[in-house]
Amino acid sequence: MSPDPVRIGLLGRGTVGGAFAALLGERAAAVEAATGRRPELAGVLTRGEGEFGEILERSDLVVELIGGTEPAREHVLAALRAGRPVVTANKQLLAQHGEELFAAAREAGVQLRFEAAVAGVIPIVRTIQESFGVTEIEKVFGIVNGTTNFILSEMAATGAAYADVLARAQQLGYAEADPGDDVNGADAAAKMAILARLAFHTPVTLDQVPHEGIEGVKPDDLAYAKEFGLSLKLLGVAERREAGISVRVFPCFLYGGHPLAPVEGPFNAVMVEAPAITEVTMSGPGAGGVETASAVLGDVVSILAGEAPVHETRAELPLVTDVSSSFYLHLEVADEPGVLADVARVLSDNEVSVKSVVQRGIGDEARLVMVVHECLESRFREAVEEIGGLGEIRSAPRFIRVIEEEFV
Ligand SMILES: NC(=O)c1ccc[n+]([C@@H]2O[C@H](COP(=O)([O-])OP(=O)(O)OC[C@H]3O[C@@H](n4cnc5c(N)ncnc54)[C@H](OP(=O)(O)O)[C@@H]3O)[C@@H](O)[C@H]2O)c1
Repeated sequence: MSPDPVRIGLLGRGTVGGAFAALLGERAAAVEAATGRRPELAGVLTRGEGEFGEILERSDLVVELIGGTEPAREHVLAALRAGRPVVTANKQLLAQHGEELFAAAREAGVQLRFEAAVAGVIPIVRTIQESFGVTEIEKVFGIVNGTTNFILSEMAATGAAYADVLARAQQLGYAEADPGDDVNGADAAAKMAILARLAFHTPVTLDQVPHEGIEGVKPDDLAYAKEFGLSLKLLGVAERREAGISVRVFPCFLYGGHPLAPVEGPFNAVMVEAPAITEVTMSGPGAGGVETASAVLGDVVSILAGEAPVHETRAELPLVTDVSSSFYLHLEVADEPGVLADVARVLSDNEVSVKSVVQRGIGDEARLVMVVHECLESRFREAVEEIGGLGEIRSAPRFIRVIEEEFV
């Protein structure tokens, strides 16, 4: 007699849920071959279809693809408390209510899996939880938002302005009609909160992750950066620092040769650094219904195969916000002698040292653009404020962080 099928309750049948339902049908025989149990849909919940209680009753496992926090949180908690393993792709839910959900999963002794919530198809959650489960991770960082990576790649390649490239990204389906959380860094911040929690075994929530977006990036920043051999990415960084951990999202210049520099278009890439592994880089598509559904199905297979990650909290690490970085600084200056000397004096008074500098343009086009060596961010900001007050500076200074490390 063949074993009972595994009945899956599907919450949400939009872009990802629809693709998941189709994939489940196509790959049912393969799932059965891998796990010994054939999956079938027990019911589907949307705004116009299904009743949650009935679907839960009929399900052995629940897949949440509604998105947002409510009612997703309520349904996921109810499913876990009823002893059903849950798979979700919902970064907002995990970044805001992860601890509550992990605790419910632990108490009920069931699995909660969420590979598709971070970095699209890249199996970074599984890699950190399982392959590097007992590795002392120093740093997890990367490009975790495909929309912004597409926009920055296009701006660099074409010289077009941010608003024009955003409109093109919307036409091509790489940006949503309301791109707010993508372009302001909030989407990446949610993913970094999840990755930091996994890497450092300490609670991290979305509101603890400072984030900056790409709305203020100007085409001439990218043009000048080319002269320094730099390319611009929106980076999420989670790293150990002496006093705790730092988790942030910000636009950042990388030198050519850096493993993330060639990652272009709507792709994601994540690097993990640890003494025991040196560094590992993985890249792949950042989103898409079919791609995300495939990561969700992978989680279903892991649950059926009985592989169980543990979401334990090993420490309560403080979050540090003032960290060191190298910076690109763009100044629109008066076309007169002595400007460079004045700017250099302010930087030097604040113990900020210059790595490279270019001076371009005449009259209203005069610019002073430089890269400074790594220094504490608070110190650099003080220097920039002072520079902004110099009589020869014609508009507010612009700056962008730089990863100074040069790979060969
Ligand atoms: N799209 C991607 O490429 C991608 C990539 C990675 C992760 N994700 C994540 O995957 C999840 C789903 O995203 P999606 O793009 O598939 O969303 P979507 O296309 O907007 O679909 C959402 C689905 O949830 C249903 N729904 C919404 N509110 C509901 C409610 N109150 N009660 C019951 N059902 C409700 C909708 O019902 P109706 O059909 O009735 O509207 C729809 O079927 C999100 O957490 C998202 O962050 C998406």
